[in-house]
Amino acid sequence: MEVSNRFIVIKDHIEEAPKESHFNLKTESLSLSVVSGSDDVIVRNLYISIDPYQINRMKSNSSSQKAINFAVPITPNQAIDGVAVGKVVACGSGKFEKDDVVVGLFTWAEYSLVKEASIINKLDNFEFPLTYRLGVLGFTGLSAYAGFFELCKPKKGEKVFVSAASGSVGCLAAQYAKLFGCYVVGSAGSQKKVEVLKDKLGLDDAFNYKEETDLKSALKRYFPEGIDIYFDNVGGDMLEAAVDNMNSFGRVAVCGVISEYTDAGKRAAPDMLNVVYKRLNIRGFLAADFLNIFADFVSHTSDLLRSGKLLNLEDLSYGVDNIPSSFIGLFNGDNIGKKIVKLAEDE
Ligand SMILES: NC(=O)c1ccc[n+]([C@@H]2O[C@H](COP(=O)([O-])OP(=O)(O)OC[C@H]3O[C@@H](n4cnc5c(N)ncnc54)[C@H](OP(=O)(O)O)[C@@H]3O)[C@@H](O)[C@H]2O)c1
Repeated sequence: MEVSNRFIVIKDHIEEAPKESHFNLKTESLSLSVVSGSDDVIVRNLYISIDPYQINRMKSNSSSQKAINFAVPITPNQAIDGVAVGKVVACGSGKFEKDDVVVGLFTWAEYSLVKEASIINKLDNFEFPLTYRLGVLGFTGLSAYAGFFELCKPKKGEKVFVSAASGSVGCLAAQYAKLFGCYVVGSAGSQKKVEVLKDKLGLDDAFNYKEETDLKSALKRYFPEGIDIYFDNVGGDMLEAAVDNMNSFGRVAVCGVISEYTDAGKRAAPDMLNVVYKRLNIRGFLAADFLNIFADFVSHTSDLLRSGKLLNLEDLSYGVDNIPSSFIGLFNGDNIGKKIVKLAEDE
């Protein structure tokens, strides 16, 4: 059987903020059978994770492209791989059966023809919705969990600042910090997001950074006694302002620097005297560095979800043609919580 498979490509490398004109929706004819004995697998994609780091793969050159195998460059006019949940349609080796639900590196497409090695795992526990595997119980959640607990080594009562706190990673990092017993303030880009942070997630305080003319004094206002931990999702001038307000022996977990991804002229230049004399620990990390704690993370996080203590925020769009706008929206602050595109029904 053959299907008409729709998929998204970039027309050329993207060196600026992404826009619709950078993308094409292509259609190909795809046979839904594979050669017996091969390591080919065809997956029908159900949900695609939409992630900011993909913009760094779309550039002609970025330091991220050599760091790890899923950050390698994206070739214009070719299918774009990304983390997704799908159902196996056919598998050459027989290792996976038809209708197995799998998480893996598939493509921004309705169907993906991939190698078996692209499958990260086959799901056998359906206690939570499948979307959770891309967000709160997937790499997103692991980023928040490992970044906060492993890098920041929190102590109860410490003062924690989280930027992009209503985003996918940020809303989880902020909640882990709050549940652990820290004082937590988040920043986000709209009044609506600020209300979510305070009223839904129960943060101690939150502010709209777009309304602040001086981020250093804004942070001074929210942290009169200084910041012990900064969970950084944005980099740029927010990182500079946070370093200025850090307490001695403060920890900064640099999860991402989204404000710098689409503006090559924007680079954080924190006051290094502060870093030295306050003995700050500023450390970048990748979630993939912490696969050794994945099981503990899933177990702890599942308990928090079951007890209703941890709120899962998701932001769903529908259909392959909406993948570009969903991705572009990350850089415009459109999403609240984990951005996911649903491509087909679970059943
Ligand atoms: N280290 C890792 O392994 C790892 C894993 C996942 C993600 N990350 C990084 O973590 C960060 C958050 O990722 P995510 O998946 O959770 O995305 P996200 O926060 O759900 O989405 C992006 C959010 O960033 C904010 N933003 C966009 N442009 C901005 C700018 N110029 N300045 C300040 N804020 C801006 C927007 O919210 P506002 O309305 O608040 O502006 C937007 O909603 C990103 O930097 C990402 O690359 C790292």
